[in-house]
Amino acid sequence: MRLLAFAAFLVPLPNHALAGQYSLEDTYQGANFFSMFQFVAGSDPTHGRVNYVPEDVALGGSLALVSGSGDAIIRVDNTTFLSASGPGRNSVRIESNKLYDTHVSVFDIVHMPQGCGTWPAIWENGANWPAGGEIDILEGVNNQIQNLVTLHTTSGCSMPPSRDMIGSNTGLDCNAGVNFNAGCGVRLPGISYGTAFNVNGGGWYAIERTSTFVAVWFWGRNSASIPGEMTNGSNLINTDNWGIPAAYFPNTSCDIGLHFGPASININIALCGDWAGNSAVYAASGCPGTCIDFVDNNPAAFTDAFFEFSWIKVYS
Ligand SMILES: *[C@@H]1O[C@H](CO)[C@@H](O)[C@H](O)[C@H]1NC(C)=O
Ligand SMILES: *[C@@H]1O[C@H](CO)[C@@H](O)[C@H](O)[C@H]1NC(C)=O
Ligand SMILES: *[C@@H]1O[C@H](CO)[C@@H](O)[C@H](O)[C@H]1NC(C)=O
Repeated sequence: MRLLAFAAFLVPLPNHALAGQYSLEDTYQGANFFSMFQFVAGSDPTHGRVNYVPEDVALGGSLALVSGSGDAIIRVDNTTFLSASGPGRNSVRIESNKLYDTHVSVFDIVHMPQGCGTWPAIWENGANWPAGGEIDILEGVNNQIQNLVTLHTTSGCSMPPSRDMIGSNTGLDCNAGVNFNAGCGVRLPGISYGTAFNVNGGGWYAIERTSTFVAVWFWGRNSASIPGEMTNGSNLINTDNWGIPAAYFPNTSCDIGLHFGPASININIALCGDWAGNSAVYAASGCPGTCIDFVDNNPAAFTDAFFEFSWIKVYS
């Protein structure tokens, strides 16, 4: 121990003196929010029953807007009855212009898409997928109430079964090439997703990526342990004060620095597709008929299929 401490003293200090201390690099908020993202138009790579619209269509058709209170909203079309032979329901997929290597991102989320057929996600994505790594921070389907945090990588990255976190493993091999790309997932306990999350007024998701680990925290709006740095949107944060993470991915059997590179922040709302539309998964949520019929013929059911952000802050 002492020898290690002494050796560490001789090594040049990293760019911040305290391990978990970061300062604000970017704020995505209000009128600036959408100019810091590009809209990724077209069909959904995971076969969702959606048509991601370009920026002018999203902003013109109120599928992307800034509310009167300054929150950024992205939503799914909730008025059009679809033809079975036509494209999917209009929706939004956005990707940050900027890439981030080691960093902390914090998402103050007021509302997330909920209900049958929905498959929303907030994720960070490196280049040449899966070479640059993918981190799914908030993701789920249909009437789920617990969030699933997942890493997807190239081969040679797996997670130890027991580790210091609140959530529970759903898979240990992060390799996107096996297990139908299930990745190494961690299911969060309690209300962390969907309708009940919205009833609580949402909350904060935060991710820290260093060269040796990835950690994700979640505090519901009514949590008793929200760090003051969340509620005041501080310019300085210290993740050492945030407590045990909801999901923790250490470097025990995964060279995090090798498997994760500069990544964009991505947000999208898919409907149906490979996960939400899987007939067993869809039926298990108590959803009616088939997912695609439901999406095509029930536009008003997607009125609550929206994300609303107070802000997103990135720290380095
Ligand atoms: C894993 O990370 C720790 C610091 O969190 C570091 O001391 C250790 O050398 C790393 N191990 C490997 C195999 O990279
Ligand atoms: C925000 O909260 C943190 C943690 O409680 C505190 O250290 C910091 O001084 C606060 N900053 C502001 C601007 O209120
Ligand atoms: C569609 O969503 C808007 C915005 O929330 C809402 O005002 C409107 O009533 C919804 N339309 C239908 C048909 O449900």
